[in-house]
Amino acid sequence: MFTIGQEEIDAVAEVINTRRLFRYGGETEGRAAACERRITEIFGCSESLIVTSGTGALICGLVGLGIGPGDEVIVPAYTWLASAGAVLSVGAIPVLADVDETLTLDPDDFERRIGPRTKVVIPVHMAGRPADMDRILAVAKARGVAVLEDSCQAVGGSYKGRRLATIGDAGALSFNVYKNITCGEGGALLTNNRQVFERALYHHDMGSSFRGHTLIEPEFLGNSYRMNEIQAAVLHVQLGRLDGIIARLRERRDWIRDAIQAADTPLTLSPSADIEGDCGLHVSFLFGTADTRIRFSERAAELGCTLSSPIDSGKHVYTNWTTLLERKVGVHPKINPFLWAENRNCRISELTPDCCPRTLDLLARTATVDSGFNRTREECETLAATLCRVAKELD
Ligand SMILES: Cc1ncc(COP(=O)(O)O)c(C=O)c1O
Repeated sequence: MFTIGQEEIDAVAEVINTRRLFRYGGETEGRAAACERRITEIFGCSESLIVTSGTGALICGLVGLGIGPGDEVIVPAYTWLASAGAVLSVGAIPVLADVDETLTLDPDDFERRIGPRTKVVIPVHMAGRPADMDRILAVAKARGVAVLEDSCQAVGGSYKGRRLATIGDAGALSFNVYKNITCGEGGALLTNNRQVFERALYHHDMGSSFRGHTLIEPEFLGNSYRMNEIQAAVLHVQLGRLDGIIARLRERRDWIRDAIQAADTPLTLSPSADIEGDCGLHVSFLFGTADTRIRFSERAAELGCTLSSPIDSGKHVYTNWTTLLERKVGVHPKINPFLWAENRNCRISELTPDCCPRTLDLLARTATVDSGFNRTREECETLAATLCRVAKELD
């Protein structure tokens, strides 16, 4: 959470004073509906649906795209476990693909991993970094694969001037407490496709035609991912803060990057598919070996600079997705998609700890430093100078 305060308190108080905590049934536009309208304005998409989590948004997106048993969905090997878990939640099978030096889906490996059952790819804009959407879309279009952007970690970021989550067929945002803006827990599905939206709308509210929506798609029973008015009130204020938060992060990222680029240093900044669109959460460095990265981080820590490596980011690394790798889904065996006859011809056997070695290598060779939402320019430049000093010492 970057910033929250009196405006959010006032917005919650207003909802409680009106006694209208449920998004439906009011005479005027509620906070949830206002958030959806605001999201379409800020992001420039025709439809948005706010739900209880980013995972819920991914699930509703997959349902919207018509995905189910017998289908495969390509997911990068570096993402939060939920990107792959959402696929299993709709009965389909995730197929993992490597990331490249940008730490987002490698478009070439995405293409290599497409099989006859591949229906969707989920490019993940990890840690605020945009994936290479031009190349991913070109491959997806040529091979008839739908694109569901996981922009849970990159709310407010963009790629070549277009907001992340609006470039593919649909996109998911998360508003949990670790994200760029937050309402504690929450998510949103964004799309320009009315069919995807209507299906997602049904799915997020047990088939919701009884709410009085005017929908064309045939109704079906779904699940429940409804947002409430208290969280929506917080989110509505946070949406107003979004561009300011991203601008502040980018400013600090640029102070650090610019100082490094101006210095005579052997330090290598990680490449980006679009540094302008990157949310600015971190500055990343790529090293020749994992050992060099470790030695660099240890020496920087001695000098007071904390770096971390994505290889140490727990369940963001596919080798730590134990439940998935051990095919443990649900309690009852019959609800485990790995055991279903419909998925017999999906590439389940390729989900192994060694299926994406390039990802493991790149994650272990990368170190990142937070841009620091509250850092001054001087602190950013001092940080950059220290990192350059360490790089020179170890060169
Ligand atoms: C890349 C990514 N995808 C999906 C999710 C799921 O979001 P939520 O926690 O809101 O369900 C997260 C959340 O951490 C995430 O980082």
